[in-house]
Amino acid sequence: MAVDLLLGLQWGDEGKGKIVDVLTKSYDIIARFQGGPNAGHTLEFDGIKHVLHTIPSGIFHPSAINLIGNGVVIDPVIFRKEIKGLMPYNIDFNTKLLISKKAHIILPTHRLLDAASEASKGKAKIGSTLKGIGPTYMDKTGRNGIRIGDILLTDWKNKYHLLSKKHLKMLDYFNSEIEFDLKSMEKEFFESLEVIKSCQIVDSEEYISKAQKAGKKILAEGAQGSLLDIDFGTYPYVTSSNTTAAGACTGLGIAPNKIKNVFGIFKAYTTRVGRGPFPTELFDESGKTMAKVGNEFGSTTGRSRRCGWIDLVALKYSIEINGVTQLMMMKGDVLSGFKNIKACSSYEMENGETTLFFPYDSGAKGLKPVYKELKGWSEDLTKITDEKYFPETFKEYIKFLEKELETPIKIVSVGPDRKQTIFIN
Ligand code: GDP
Ligand code: IMO
Ligand code: MG
Repeated sequence: MAVDLLLGLQWGDEGKGKIVDVLTKSYDIIARFQGGPNAGHTLEFDGIKHVLHTIPSGIFHPSAINLIGNGVVIDPVIFRKEIKGLMPYNIDFNTKLLISKKAHIILPTHRLLDAASEASKGKAKIGSTLKGIGPTYMDKTGRNGIRIGDILLTDWKNKYHLLSKKHLKMLDYFNSEIEFDLKSMEKEFFESLEVIKSCQIVDSEEYISKAQKAGKKILAEGAQGSLLDIDFGTYPYVTSSNTTAAGACTGLGIAPNKIKNVFGIFKAYTTRVGRGPFPTELFDESGKTMAKVGNEFGSTTGRSRRCGWIDLVALKYSIEINGVTQLMMMKGDVLSGFKNIKACSSYEMENGETTLFFPYDSGAKGLKPVYKELKGWSEDLTKITDEKYFPETFKEYIKFLEKELETPIKIVSVGPDRKQTIFIN
């Protein structure tokens, strides 16, 4: 059975958690393939809002298996808190949650290094979530990392202490002023590892391969967004993993020819949290309205998200790299009340040239978005249950996007709740 992928096409927070939750009833396995607790995936149903960081977004469905793949980096302390937060919901974690032996562990000192590295950058800082993501992936590719499978071995603590010692030396290099109490951080860390040990730790690539052969349906859940991809994003203002489709192959051990549908998810406008280029960013009342109505605050850090009009140049780039087969548009409801809606269709460079391709330096001086303008809609969309009730101008916006992006929009979301999801025929 083929695997489907769901991934963000912008700078994250597109609404991946919500849609994975909605789609889970059609899948047997939901698998996270990259990133770590820098992710904050929000789900809303029965009047309750849940934010997941490490645990896949299918966890509330009784039948689905949720797998944390080898490409993910896990902070045991955050993981334990997540599990604890979900205790009231009677989830059978022993049978429903699997963790790859090959997933890497975020150590307390990785978090310290993240903070010190960011602080040392001054104005050039990335705006990291400071969850230790960069340093952990550095140790992974540097072949120094500690993996979940290691904690099942008896002598792994030596490895831990050597690595942590090295990190402390690196902290000296940064000359940082961050204060910390490593002893208490380590206490919490080792206690939290016991929670991980009590979960099913598996050879996830083997599990997935067997599941595929047994005809199980698998949905791979991306974290972050394509424009935060370590290779194709707005480097260096990116995260440290491959957030694009190829990341699902390496992050789960899925062969490329086993991937069928690639669901690309985007907001009807654009947001970004953290620093880095954002050609369509708005600094005016329109941007403030999007932030306010869309409640654009980071699910992980609570920081304000920067807002702007939809960027078709960036979206086309993401669609191409990921091989997106169908689109899902979120938060159209937030744009209700705008007299006109703008969509960036090209960039004008400082030398007057126009580009349709997302450029190497999307933060180049003088780069200006060129907009097409469409009529807005004033109706509230949040109670609409069928596309036939969409206002005409909203329908036109959808049609316009499908034409520009050359890809069908199959889901339109009109609110944060599970139920506010409209499947398009
Ligand atoms: P993720 O990281 O991609 O899972 O997205 P986040 O959860 O970080 O951010 C998306 C936010 O938008 C969350 O607060 C969701 O509850 C909310 N949301 C999702 N879809 C919609 C929608 O269609 N309309 C509105 N108004 N909010 C939505
Ligand atoms: P979800 O899965 C939005 C951003 C950070 C920062 C940059 C690097 O919820 O969409 P990192 O912590 O990885 O070192 O931060 O990436 N970032 C996200 N922005 N949504 C996310 O995840 C993000 N995860 C990281 O703000 O700019
Ligand atoms: Mg998020």
